[in-house]
Amino acid sequence: MPEYNHSYNAALKNALDYLNREWAYKPVGFVSYGGVSGGLRAVQAIKPVVAALRMTPRAEPPDAPG
Ligand SMILES: Cc1cc2nc3c(=O)[nH]c(=O)nc-3n(C[C@H](O)[C@H](O)[C@H](O)COP(=O)(O)O)c2cc1C
Repeated sequence: MPEYNHSYNAALKNALDYLNREWAYKPVGFVSYGGVSGGLRAVQAIKPVVAALRMTPRAEPPDAPG
């Protein structure tokens, strides 16, 4: 996922809104990219969204930046 103006992109939100019933109760990992933050703020912004849709955001791997 890219970071656009400190948040996640609209196409990803649309996908979550469309597919959340079949993705419910599954773990979610994030791979982000962007400018200086590498998409970190977009990932933090979308975690409560996936939690509200009954998905489980997993923790970053130990060697992940940030
Ligand atoms: C409108 C816009 C806003 C962006 N805002 C951010 C940002 O806030 N933080 C960041 O790290 N990168 C930001 N970027 C860079 C993107 O995350 C991404 O690296 C870049 O757009 C290239 O990928 P793309 O072709 O998939 O969009 C922004 C890019 C665009 C076009």
